[in-house]
Formats: sequence, structure tokens, C-alpha cells
Amino acid sequence: MKARVLSGVQPSGNLHIGNYLGALKNWAEIQGQYESIFCIVDLHAITIYQQPAELAAKIRETAALFIASGIDPEQSSIIVQSSVSGHAELSWLLTCVTPLGWLYRMTQFKTKSEKQETIGAGLLQYPVLMTADILLYQAALVPVGDDQSQHLELARDIAQRFNSLYGETFVMPATSLPSVGARIMGLDDPTQKMSKSAPGTGHAIGLLDDPKVIAKKIGRATTDSSPAVDLENISPGIANLLAIGEACDPTFRKETAASMRYGDFKKRVTEAVISRLEPIQKKYREVIADPGYLEGVLADGRQRVLPIAEETVRKTKAAMGLYV
Ligand code: TYM
Repeated sequence: MKARVLSGVQPSGNLHIGNYLGALKNWAEIQGQYESIFCIVDLHAITIYQQPAELAAKIRETAALFIASGIDPEQSSIIVQSSVSGHAELSWLLTCVTPLGWLYRMTQFKTKSEKQETIGAGLLQYPVLMTADILLYQAALVPVGDDQSQHLELARDIAQRFNSLYGETFVMPATSLPSVGARIMGLDDPTQKMSKSAPGTGHAIGLLDDPKVIAKKIGRATTDSSPAVDLENISPGIANLLAIGEACDPTFRKETAASMRYGDFKKRVTEAVISRLEPIQKKYREVIADPGYLEGVLADGRQRVLPIAEETVRKTKAAMGLYV
């Protein structure tokens, strides 16, 4: 039997090249080796207010981007988190074994809560729900970008705590990071992680950005005062563009002459990004134009994973002495 993989993306904001290089690309590459489940985590998205009609559209858009990025719905199950009630149910069971202090320590909670006027309880609970996503399917491997590493350590801590309180119930999930592209930084500020919610049009390369827009954004990306690439002495802006170029095109680093002038270097990065994104955008347009097909993929995914989810919830409740 193949080991199971689970990962997810929030359907909030616009997916960017960091989401692709840190997660989706890796998913497409490894899906054949595992029993893969990829999840559109809408219950996570609502930890911050989402306009309902926009959220509904984003869920479909995200599913279409999964397929466009190479996730094959025949090989992998693509599911919407809220369509499988076990996510929310297991999340409550795990909440009851999670010390509050563990949640207050999460860096993402600290950063996100600083930006909110009112901090919803869901924002604090966020990593417990994420743990439930993983443990619900007894996933052995979780392919993510580097920003999720702390959440995954917490997932292992919660699983361990549950197992030691109630007996072996959950598989311990390992983190899988891509070798290049695990942490793509903002083009406007290479000291900040590229993020869906950051303001400014020069920050992120959207997966659906027009090639002209991509060229403009990369052209304006923050670098430093040197005229040309010096591989011995790389500033954060250049390191980020190198990572983007290399993750989009494996021959990129070799071809990039050490002394390439920044203008030419940025053109090379732009070419690498556009040739990577163009087929994805083309496939996206085909998939999103066929809502019946998309609905079918999501319904199929749900049917495939439902028995696994139901079994884990039953097993967890039984271990805790709840009524089953
Ligand atoms: P989300 O929606 O913020 O991001 C989706 C995936 O993209 C990766 N990522 C990045 N990788 C490289 N550079 C970046 N700048 C960058 N920004 C984002 C993220 O690491 C992630 O892999 N909590 C998760 C979603 C989630 C999940 C899960 C993940 C919910 N349940 C269970 C794994 C397993 C999140 O908000 O991802």
C-alpha cells in the first residue's frame, strides 16, 4: 500500500508563484509515488472575514489551479475541506488535547493577529484544524513551503500527546520541503515572505498574471546597487530572483553567467517564469470554462476520501471513550 500525502491551500486572495513553487509544483511531482489528497481549505480561509460570493468563486478557482498546475484528478483526490465534516469534527477532538500555550506561540498567529482589529477565536485554533486535516487521513508526508514548518511541528506534538493520552491512534506526519523555492520572498521587499494578503501591486507574481504584468513586476523588483550578478556576494533580492528562476527552469543557474548585468538577468528570470506559467494559465482557462467537470472532480475526490475520514473520526472517538 502506498503511503499517504496530504496538503492544502487556502482559497483566499490570489495564488502566487510562491504557492506554486513552494507547494503545488512539488505535489504534482510526487503525486504518483503516494496516495495523494490535496485540499482547498475553505474552513481555514474564514478565520479572516471572506466576502461569501468571492469565497465561493475562489474555491473553484483554486481547484482549477490545482489541476492546471499538474495535479491529476485521476491519480490524486482533490477535495474541498468543508465538504468532509470529519475535518471540523476531528479539530474539536484535538482542540481538547491542545494546551493554549502551544497556540499562542505560533508565529503566524502573532503576525496575523497584529493585523486584525478583532482577533477571532478561529485564528488561534487555525493550526489545530490544520493538524486535523493531516491526521484525519493518517498522512505520512505533508509537502509544504517553509512557512508551514512550525505548524507541522505542532501537528506532530498534538499527535504525540493524543497517542500518549489515549493510545496509538495517529500516524506521525513528516514535513517535505522543496529543495528550491521553499521560501519565495516579496519582489518589492525581499526580506518579507511573498504572501497572498500583502498589499501593493509589485509584491507577488500571481499565477494568473498576464505576461506583460509579470515582466513589469520582475523589472521593478528590488535588487541592490551593484550593476551585475556576483554569485560570491548575493543580496536578498538577487537571491530571491535566482531561486525563482532556478525553480521555474532547472537549467537557469548554469546558464546564468556570473557577471550578467541586472537588466539582462531580470529578462532571463522573466522568460523562465513566463514559460513556466503560460501552459498553466492555458490549462486553467480550459478547466474553469467547464464547471460541470470541476464539480465532478470535487465530488469524486470527496467520495474517495470519505471512508478514510469516517474511520479516523470513529477510531478517535472510541479511543476517547465517546459514544460511537
Ligand atoms: P497557504 O494557503 O498560505 O499556502 C499554500 C502553500 O503555499 C506555500 N507558500 C509558500 N511557499 C514558498 N514561498 C512562499 N512565499 C509561500 N507562501 C505560501 C505554503 O507553505 C503552503 O504549502 N495553513 C496552510 C494550508 C493548510 C495546510 C493544511 C497545509 C491547511 N491545512 C494541511 C498542509 C497540510 C496555508 O495557509 O497555506
